[in-house]
Amino acid sequence: MNFRARPRGRLPALPPRDQTAPVTAEASNHTARSAATVAGADRDVDAEPLFRFGLLADVQYADDDPRPQIDRYYRYSLGKLAEAITEFNRHELAFVVHLGDLVDHDLENLPPVLNLLRQSTAPVRQVLGNHDFLSRTGPNGVSAEADVFSAFGLERPYYAFDVAGWRFLVLNTNEVGVIAAEPQTERWLQGRQLLDRLAAEKRPNANAWNGTIGPEQTGWLEDQIEDAGTHGLRAAILAHHPVFPDHGDNLLDDHRMRERLPDFPALKVWFNGHQHQGGYGEHGGVNYLTLCGMVQTRRNAYAIAEVYHDRIEIIGFDREPTRTLKINS
Ligand SMILES: [Fe+2]
Repeated sequence: MNFRARPRGRLPALPPRDQTAPVTAEASNHTARSAATVAGADRDVDAEPLFRFGLLADVQYADDDPRPQIDRYYRYSLGKLAEAITEFNRHELAFVVHLGDLVDHDLENLPPVLNLLRQSTAPVRQVLGNHDFLSRTGPNGVSAEADVFSAFGLERPYYAFDVAGWRFLVLNTNEVGVIAAEPQTERWLQGRQLLDRLAAEKRPNANAWNGTIGPEQTGWLEDQIEDAGTHGLRAAILAHHPVFPDHGDNLLDDHRMRERLPDFPALKVWFNGHQHQGGYGEHGGVNYLTLCGMVQTRRNAYAIAEVYHDRIEIIGFDREPTRTLKINS
């Protein structure tokens, strides 16, 4: 099986880590275009990016046979991930983020994936997805939350980190709903009630594999974005579930979230996985980018983001499209 990735659309303009590597015609063209733009511009908006980072979603590895009926190839994910890490290591990346569902079926599938991620030369940031909570042996098919957090090396399931003028906010969108709760517990019953209400409203995302954030996490998120704005930082959210456009895989309170977020001018992008076909939408000045799921199809999918003052260039590999996200000042 050949997993060799090819950047889609735009030809690679990424300087390799090895500065002695031969300059390709494509790279040479990019350099000439950038130089010309900078020379004629008042503002240095088309020079080198402020920083780059790697994007992965839904590796969803399991030591299990493929399920062609749903187009998922669990064992292929190790080879695909190895290829992505090799490509990432060719570039100077501030970090690599995986947007949730690193494994399927059970945490016992985690060690080989973590071993591959340890080969990343850039620090790896983890976002938790719904499949990460599944257990073959735990009560009612769910791992204890503390065990999941610990297995992923997370002191907190939601957290923030700053990079070169940006604040990244990692959410745990499995907090509310029935994903991480043991069936028949009070928390699970509250999640079930929420899902039943959404189903009565005929909302397409009234599905057990979707969740959202609770009041405390919401307060934390809003404080963090506000604080980022106060300090002149731009903010981006890294989450598992999508918010926009409407989809059966969306955050349980997607409509409330998408109406609230434009109140925070510092917030520019919501990155997520979960919906394996990928997609993009803009609403109220916020970019919503859904990364393609790596486990889906025999082909690979991952991306490198280049962050500029006025845009983020998403350099997609294989199934992942190459796109430009506009960043309003
Ligand atoms: Fe998911």
